[in-house]
Amino acid sequence: MPQPKPPTVYPHSLYRWLVLASLLPLVPVGVSCGAKFEKDHHSFANPEHIRVRHVDLDLNVDFERKSLAGQATLTVERTSDDGKQPLLLDSRALRVKKVEWSTDGRSFTEGTFSLGKTDPILGEKLSVPAPVGVKLVRVHYSTGPRASALQWLDREQTGGKRHPFLFTQSQAIHARSWIPLQDSPGVRVTYTAHIRTAKGLLAVMSANNDPKKARDYRFEMKRAIPPYLIALAVGDLAFRAVGPRTGVYAEPGVVDKAAIEFADMEKMVKATEGLYGPYRWGRYDILVLPPSFPFGGMENPCLTFASPTVLAGDKSLVSLVAHELSHSWSGNLVSNATWRDFWLNEGFTVYLERRILEQVYGKQRAEMEAVLGRRGLERELAELKPPDQVLHIDLKGRDPEDGLTDVPYEKGALFLTHIERSVGRERFDAFLKSYFDHFAFRSITTADFVAYLDSHLVKGDRKLAEKLSVEEWVNRPGIPGRAPRLTAEALTRAEEQAKTWLGGKVPAKSLKTAGWSTQEWLHFLQALPEKLGRERMKELDEGFNFSRSGNSEITFQWLMMAVRNGYEPASPRLEQFLTSMGRRKFLQPLYAELVKTPQGKERALRIYRKARPTYHPIAIATVDAIVGWKD
Ligand code: BES
Ligand code: ZN
Repeated sequence: MPQPKPPTVYPHSLYRWLVLASLLPLVPVGVSCGAKFEKDHHSFANPEHIRVRHVDLDLNVDFERKSLAGQATLTVERTSDDGKQPLLLDSRALRVKKVEWSTDGRSFTEGTFSLGKTDPILGEKLSVPAPVGVKLVRVHYSTGPRASALQWLDREQTGGKRHPFLFTQSQAIHARSWIPLQDSPGVRVTYTAHIRTAKGLLAVMSANNDPKKARDYRFEMKRAIPPYLIALAVGDLAFRAVGPRTGVYAEPGVVDKAAIEFADMEKMVKATEGLYGPYRWGRYDILVLPPSFPFGGMENPCLTFASPTVLAGDKSLVSLVAHELSHSWSGNLVSNATWRDFWLNEGFTVYLERRILEQVYGKQRAEMEAVLGRRGLERELAELKPPDQVLHIDLKGRDPEDGLTDVPYEKGALFLTHIERSVGRERFDAFLKSYFDHFAFRSITTADFVAYLDSHLVKGDRKLAEKLSVEEWVNRPGIPGRAPRLTAEALTRAEEQAKTWLGGKVPAKSLKTAGWSTQEWLHFLQALPEKLGRERMKELDEGFNFSRSGNSEITFQWLMMAVRNGYEPASPRLEQFLTSMGRRKFLQPLYAELVKTPQGKERALRIYRKARPTYHPIAIATVDAIVGWKD
């Protein structure tokens, strides 16, 4: 993995933005006319000359060959006078067969194209010379066996074991591995799709879905979305309605459990609408994927993709639903224009998530999640180099997923909580609502947000500007000194129990843990020192049965402790955990902890040899680097 470089833009560029915006309150540069153009270092595309507006897909899902094959017809528009510029697209490991173009939208002429050499992070630049007046460009292609967005599951890898399964994960820059397009979040597109697949399988997309159709599927996404939100899944899927516009898709063996776990979806949509304005995407459904899904959740519009690891049986991990739903405002409606602005997606979303939790499950639950988030952030900051602690992070030359730390999520959310507390909830709620309206269906940069904040909230109030300290929050490492203090009584009590037990006088079994929630258990475990010793681990396990927990978050936490302390009785559970799900957030730290000792490394390799074929390419890339895997 490339090493972090020192940031190139460190001085106060945003501060200048602030000053500029406050000097010109009537001409909010780069705001009213949409995002000011900012170079996306993670795309080869040239939207400043010629821009893709719509993608029409016609794809055959070939489970035998593990390939999507067909064509993508791109509606393009010249955006500069320089008519000589070719259309530059992103691609990764695609087999391009033929390119055609059309100037009248009906008849096509075969054209030329060239594929650049492979960049390990970005893939290949696909250059298509396009004549003056070009309207459509059609690429005939198929996906390669290493397409980073796709996971093809053999029937044995599914719950039902009878049908194969395919799903995509396009964020951050994997859309290009299954669709040739301008794969930059600043280049929004509408899309239509014709998906052909085998009988008996259901295809669903991040668009309007119809659970009653079969074999021959047509989809339409009428709103312009960033390419990383284009998603497809095909498998033996069943559907259960949860509310009038909400429901769940999953394999038949999982769908009822999912419907019970996610019973509060409709309430959550209503709560968010009450705060931030109407839900603008029609239906809101959740697709529960097989366990190899590499993330907890992915906010594909109309259809959140979710890991079955959140089905705890007691709704204790449904903050994930609140999170992915929130992205329907922060992320999908208003999107980050480049991956440096990722905190605009995730920081806002974590803030919204907790507001929803507060409304649906009460203040306590929201406070606990906030405290857990803050502690996680502190632990992570202790390990991160200063440039990686910055919200407006410089990712040039790096994989955008290097920016996937607690910083955009938790520091971002903390920043918004700081603004909320500085101006009061009422004012901040009104501000956020107007922000979502103002930038609806656009992709914006950090500077766009800062300018809008200045013109619509700060409005020349110097004292407030000083208090908010935006420049410090956005461009400097660490947590600003005046960050909000967060507390949750229940967690303080859990921490006290941890201390009592560590004191050695009260046995684990006699601690006051009755009725504890998942969040209290997590906090209790996290309050214990890293090195506990095997005896004390054993006492905890005998007292609370952690090695047999069915909750993925508690299991993960416990297994981290087990590896650190060489607690052998948890070994079977560790192996079972690592071979039964592919969520990167769990895999990455566990493998990293294992490889710290020679025996651990051996064990990691032994488990990984077995598990690797079941993981998604995105998780494989991560774990390969940790264990030093060579094909
Ligand atoms: N959009 C992210 C997932 C993501 C980010 C995938 C960047 C690829 C690149 C999603 O909304 C997310 O944050 N998921 C979290 C769960 C959430 C509750 C914090 C996850 O998967 O752990
Ligand atoms: Zn998210």
